[in-house]
Amino acid sequence: MKHNLAVIGYGGMGGWHTQWAQKSDAVTLAGIYDIKEERRALARERGIRAYETLEELLGDKSVELVTVAVPNDCHRELAIKALRAGKHVISEKPVMLSVKDLEDVIEVARETGKLFTVHQNRRWDVDYLAVQRIFDEDTIGHVFNVESRIHGSRGIPSDWRGEKAHGGGMLYDWGVHLIDQMMRLYRDKKIKTAYCEFDHITNQEVDDGFKLTLTMETGERGYVEVGTYNFIAMPRFYVQAMKGTAVIPDWRERCKVVKCKAWHESDVVPVQTAAGLTKTMAPRDEVTTDTFELDRPQSDVHDFYRNFCAAMEGKAEQTVTHEQMIRVLRIIEAAFRSVETGAPVKVEGE
Ligand SMILES: NC(=O)c1ccc[n+]([C@@H]2O[C@H](COP(=O)([O-])OP(=O)(O)OC[C@H]3O[C@@H](n4cnc5c(N)ncnc54)[C@H](O)[C@@H]3O)[C@@H](O)[C@H]2O)c1
Repeated sequence: MKHNLAVIGYGGMGGWHTQWAQKSDAVTLAGIYDIKEERRALARERGIRAYETLEELLGDKSVELVTVAVPNDCHRELAIKALRAGKHVISEKPVMLSVKDLEDVIEVARETGKLFTVHQNRRWDVDYLAVQRIFDEDTIGHVFNVESRIHGSRGIPSDWRGEKAHGGGMLYDWGVHLIDQMMRLYRDKKIKTAYCEFDHITNQEVDDGFKLTLTMETGERGYVEVGTYNFIAMPRFYVQAMKGTAVIPDWRERCKVVKCKAWHESDVVPVQTAAGLTKTMAPRDEVTTDTFELDRPQSDVHDFYRNFCAAMEGKAEQTVTHEQMIRVLRIIEAAFRSVETGAPVKVEGE
């Protein structure tokens, strides 16, 4: 059974949701609403129903679920209105701008008996899934350091993403995805401290990049970095474990693994460096290591909607849970506190 979906906000991501919905086996597209007439007109040109007002969309009894794809500061108000109108709601990320706002919305979801979740679509990214496999299959033993970076060179976009009032900044933008992925990888290990630094290279109002270190109570480290002024990008993922190292140079590329098969080398030959000699840093060879690539994982991002619809029917638990959303926002709030104090801080609730 397909469920009837309406999308609020017909910009970049609203367009993405409608395109997926039009070919979906889980939902049918009822229509969209955008505050801008030109966006509604564009939808109509494309053969999509554009509701004239938000009230018209929310009053359409045939609409069962609503995806909210508007700038970050508008998620709260629209999610609450849609829940109160009796719709199940998917919010674009970041789910809300604070834990308090999120708790308010979750409360309304409870009151109304409707489902509420966030579109954490990057749980279906194949680079992330490859690292997930390293954890799941114990490919290189116990993982003690994951570095997750995304680098671009165009600065922060010049739209609402660059403005504090709209919930701009890269921590709220890419940060929520990478933090969510990191917590999935470490299977919700408790965090001891969070330490964060912001970049302000092209924008002084919001962070146009950040570096966040999460140290787990058991000692493992999750490092998350977003940069918008990197003309040479660092690897998307770098993973250190007790039996080897894995790297994904770029999201288009496969995961390369170097696995240690013999720890000791009897006759390490020192190597010449620019102005010296080193045995410690001498590269290993195939006698003590195996080098291989992992197959690209299979992934279908539309499983997000399939799962949500199954949850609406009571046949599945929603993949992105309220607890997980709250935790990501608690980490984000800790990151802001760390930037303010210049020191590692505790994450609320850990
Ligand atoms: N999950 C992802 O991969 C991903 C990717 C990009 C954006 N996003 C998220 O999607 C949301 C939208 O981002 P975008 O890139 O589409 O922005 P956008 O600026 O391209 O589009 C936003 C649209 O919302 C409309 N809008 C603004 N306020 C509204 C309101 N009150 N009611 C109805 N329409 C309103 C605007 O007119 C605009 O057309 C943001 O929360 C963003 O973080 C998610």
